[in-house]
Amino acid sequence: MLRHMLLGGATACAALALACQSSAQAPPAERSWMNTKLSPEERARLLDQALTEDERYGLLHGVMPLPFFPGAKIPEDAVPGAGYVAGIPRLGVPPLRETDASLGVANPGGVRKGDTATALPAGLALAASWNPDNAYAGGAVVGEEAARKGFNVLLGGGLNLAAEPRNGRNFEYLGEDPLLAGTLAGAAVRGVQDRHVVSTVKHFALNDQETGRNVVNAVIDEQGLRQGELLAFQFAIEKGQPGSVMCAYNKVNGHYACDNDLLLNKVLKGDWAWPGWVMSDWGAVPGIRAAANGLDQQSGAQLDRQVWFDKPLREAVGKGEVAEARIHDMSRRILRSMFAVGLFDTASRQGQPVDYLAGAKVSRTTAEQGIVLLKNDRGLLPLAKGARKIVVVGGYADTGVLSGGGSAQVITGTGNAAAVPVGGEGPLAAFASQVYHPSSPLKAIKAKLGKETMVRFSDGRYPSEAAALAKDADLAIVFVTQWMMESIDAGDLSLPSGQDGLVAAVAAANPNTIVVLETGGPVLMPWLDQVGAVVEAWYPGVKGGEAIADVLFGDVNPSGRLPITFPASLDQLPNRQVAGFGYLGPSFTDPPEVVAEKTKSFDAPHPQGSDIGYRWYARKGFKPLFPFGHGLSYGRFSYGALKVAGGDTITASFDITNTGDRPGADVPQVYLTARSGAPELRLLGWSRVELRPGETKRVTITADRRLLADFDVKARGWRIDAGTYEVAVGASAAALDAKAAVKVKAAKLKP
Ligand code: BGC
Repeated sequence: MLRHMLLGGATACAALALACQSSAQAPPAERSWMNTKLSPEERARLLDQALTEDERYGLLHGVMPLPFFPGAKIPEDAVPGAGYVAGIPRLGVPPLRETDASLGVANPGGVRKGDTATALPAGLALAASWNPDNAYAGGAVVGEEAARKGFNVLLGGGLNLAAEPRNGRNFEYLGEDPLLAGTLAGAAVRGVQDRHVVSTVKHFALNDQETGRNVVNAVIDEQGLRQGELLAFQFAIEKGQPGSVMCAYNKVNGHYACDNDLLLNKVLKGDWAWPGWVMSDWGAVPGIRAAANGLDQQSGAQLDRQVWFDKPLREAVGKGEVAEARIHDMSRRILRSMFAVGLFDTASRQGQPVDYLAGAKVSRTTAEQGIVLLKNDRGLLPLAKGARKIVVVGGYADTGVLSGGGSAQVITGTGNAAAVPVGGEGPLAAFASQVYHPSSPLKAIKAKLGKETMVRFSDGRYPSEAAALAKDADLAIVFVTQWMMESIDAGDLSLPSGQDGLVAAVAAANPNTIVVLETGGPVLMPWLDQVGAVVEAWYPGVKGGEAIADVLFGDVNPSGRLPITFPASLDQLPNRQVAGFGYLGPSFTDPPEVVAEKTKSFDAPHPQGSDIGYRWYARKGFKPLFPFGHGLSYGRFSYGALKVAGGDTITASFDITNTGDRPGADVPQVYLTARSGAPELRLLGWSRVELRPGETKRVTITADRRLLADFDVKARGWRIDAGTYEVAVGASAAALDAKAAVKVKAAKLKP
C-alpha cells in the first residue's frame, strides 16, 4: 500500500480506497487542466471548456445535505453538513463538501452521530489576543479536522464589524476595527487554505445585526462603507486570498447583498480584482438577476424560493438577459479557487484520525491570550493559593463553559456538558439551546488548590443563598453568562436573567468578589464599583475552564485586550435600540399574505459611518465603560523613546519595557490621533510583545497608507492629503501616552 501511495497519480488514488479528490476515470493525458505547472486561471479555463452545459450549471448551485428538510435526499457522496455541490466524476471534479466552521467544524443538530470537533474560543476571544499566529493556528486546526471529516470548503472567516454591540453573532466575528479584524481573518484563511481546504470570508457585507436579517436594509454612506466594513474585508482578502466570499442576507442601501452590483461587481471583483467565487448565504438569493450582479453560486438552494441558478438562469441566458460569457465566468471562478487551493491535487484525508489534543492546545493558547482582565483595583488577582474558603457562584461553572449558538455551534470534547433550552418565538426557537462545553472552571479552580482550601459552589439561582455563602468565605468568584445565537440579537446590554442582581448581592456580602464574564459581546456592569476584579473570558472553547483558572491564579499573566468597546450606557450607542426591534419573521405555516406583512423591509441606519466603536466614542466625546484596546496585566509596562518618520506613510518605533516583576505580554497600540489639527482616531498597528521583568524591546510599526487616507467616492480611490499627522502609542484607544507629529505627503491610491 505504501509503495502504491509513493508511486502517486491515479494508481495511488485507487489504492487509497477513499480516492484522491480527482478521480481516475479518464486518462490523465486528456486532462490538460491537471498540469500543475499551469496557473489556476489557465487550468480553470481548460476545464471549463471541457464541461457540458449541464455540468457547468451543476456547479452553480448546491443543497444543504441535512435530513431536516421535508423529502430531503442526501446525495450519496455528501457529508452531512451545511452544503454540497455535486462534482463531475467524468472529469475528476470533486464535489464541494462545505461545513460551517467559524469556531470549529460544526455538526448541525448532531447529524453526524458522535462526531465532535475542536471548539476554538469565540472570534472575540481570538481578536482579544491581537495575535495573528493564533488565527493562523486555529485556521490550520479547523482546516485539517474538516479535511479528515471529508470536507473541502469551510464557511468560516466571519468578520462583520461590530457596529451593533447587541448583534447576536458578534461572538463569531472579530470586533470593531478594520485592521484588527482584517488582519486576523486573513491569517485564519491562510491557516485553513494551507491545509488545502477552501476558506470563505463572510458575510459580505454589513450583516451586523440579526434582527430581520433577511429583510433589513443597512443604510450607510459609501465613504463610511469603504473606510469601515469594506476595508476590513479588503484587508482580509488581501492577506488571506480566500477562495470564496459569502454574500450576506441583508440589503445594503436598498439592494440585497447577494444581488448587489456595487458590492460584488464593482468593489470585490472590480476595484479589488479578487479572482475567487461569491457563494450566497443560505436562502439569500432573491432571483436570477443576482448572477448578473456578481453572485457565482447559489448555496443551500432548498432555502430559497427556488433553484434559480439552473433552469431559470438557462432561460434568462436564452433570452439574452444574462450573458453566456457570465456563466463561464461563474464556473471558472469556482474551478479557479479549487485549483488554487489544491483541491484537485491533494489526496483525500477523509477518515484519517484527528489529533484533538493538538487542537485543544491551540484552543487553550488562544483562550489564555484572549481573556481580558478588565479591572483589578485592589490586587485581588492573581488569587492567593493559600485562601482558605472560596465560593464559586453561577454560570454553570460546575458543568462547563458557554458557547454561542447557530451555525457556528460546535460539539466538542466528550460532547455537550449541558444544553439548556432557551425557547422563545420564531422559526429557529427549536434550536435555541445554551450549550456548555465540557470544561468546568470549578473543577479547574479546585485542581489548583490544596486540601486546606474549602471550595463551595452555589448555582446562583437564589442570590440570597449565594450571598450567605460568600459572606462566610474569603472571596467569591461569580460566573455570569450572556448566551448569544445567530438570528437573535441581545434585547439590551444587561446581563440576562437577573444576573446583575446576583453579582450585586454577592458583592454586598463580600467585597472580595471577582466576576468572570462569559459573554458574546459587551455588557453593562451596574455593580462594577462594588466588585474587586472583573475578567472577560468570552466563550473560551474546549479548554476554557482551565484557561480561566490559569488566569485567575496567575499561571498565565493576562494579556488580552478588548477588540470591542464596552459602552457605559445604551445612550452612547449610535442606535439606542436595534433597528427593527421586535421583528419576528414568518413561520413555516403562515399564509402568503401574513408572510408578506411579516417580511416588510426596514432600515438600519448607520449614522456612525466608518466611525465604528472607539471612533464613535472619540467623535462624540463619550467615555465608555471600558475602551477598545483596554486590558490589564499582573505586571506593568512602559513605552518611551518614540520616533516617528513620515513621507509616504508613517513609521513609528518605540521602546517597551516590562517594569513589573513578572514575565508577561503587552499589546502596545499605535493610533493616528489627528490630521492637520483635525482629530481623527484610527488604529495604525500594534505588536504583541513578550517581556521578562526589566526587559526592553523596540517595536516598529508602519501604517497601511489607506489608514491615513480618506476614500474619495467621486474619484473612486483613496486620497491622502498632505499635512502634519499626529500619532500616539498607548495601552488602549483612551490611554494614549507617547505622542509625536510628522509630515505626510499627498497621494492618490487605487481603491
Ligand atoms: C449563516 C451562514 C452559514 C450558513 C450555512 C446561514 O444561516 O448565516 O453563516 O454559513 O447558514 O449553515
